[in-house]
Amino acid sequence: MKIGIIGSGNIGGNLGKHWAKVGHEVMFSSRHPEELKPMAEKAGAKTGTTEETAAFGEVILLAIPYGKVPDLAQQIGNLDNKILIDAANPYPQRDGDVAQKVIDDKSQTATGYVASQFPGAKTVKAFNSIYFKVIEETAFRSEDDRIAVQVCSDDEQAKETVKQLIEEIGFAPQDLGDLSKGVLFEPYAPLYNQNLKIGEAEKLLSQIQ
Ligand SMILES: NC(=O)c1ccc[n+]([C@@H]2O[C@H](COP(=O)([O-])OP(=O)(O)OC[C@H]3O[C@@H](n4cnc5c(N)ncnc54)[C@H](OP(=O)(O)O)[C@@H]3O)[C@@H](O)[C@H]2O)c1
Repeated sequence: MKIGIIGSGNIGGNLGKHWAKVGHEVMFSSRHPEELKPMAEKAGAKTGTTEETAAFGEVILLAIPYGKVPDLAQQIGNLDNKILIDAANPYPQRDGDVAQKVIDDKSQTATGYVASQFPGAKTVKAFNSIYFKVIEETAFRSEDDRIAVQVCSDDEQAKETVKQLIEEIGFAPQDLGDLSKGVLFEPYAPLYNQNLKIGEAEKLLSQIQ
């Protein structure tokens, strides 16, 4: 698949490298794409501006500070028919009012807000609840040894595609259902940042439901 990485830092950089390794076409974006060239060349990936990367990807990984999401949406548009993997988390200390409003508004989830910013996209929440060093160091495991990656979406087909992308790099998708289930693995939720093996993650889920 063509995968566009928007935000090629801790999360985007590591995931992009893994997906390139298993044969996907990856483009890393930056506001300064020249600076990413050495990393991209080593990974066998391309670099581009944010707009180029949004146009390139059939799947877009969104891994930028949450507070920058509304500006990004203005910049790149609706992402019509693309799969958008939302890995962003709202932290008011870093993300200001954008994050605080979402946290205070109990009628929507953090990922619901992101989805509303890209109304043409098929939003799938994933990779927001795993520490970047765990992505870097524990990929490519098999079976019960795999670390769980929580995933949810209102679009079943898009979710299946993302589950496959999770499996291809040796993590275990933990499917929590529709997009509203983001509440189970957003900051301070029970499954947030637990970095558990899949069996332990399923056990924890059964205890909180
Ligand atoms: N760190 C973790 O373990 C972790 C785990 C799960 C989820 N997350 C979430 O994932 C997101 C990214 O976290 P991270 O730790 O990967 O951050 P990071 O290392 O700081 O990387 C974020 C990247 O976003 C880019 N960026 C910043 N502002 C932007 C804008 N206005 N438009 C386009 N790109 C912009 C920056 O690239 P340039 O400066 O090159 O443009 C930067 O490389 C956050 O929402 C975070 O809460 C983090």
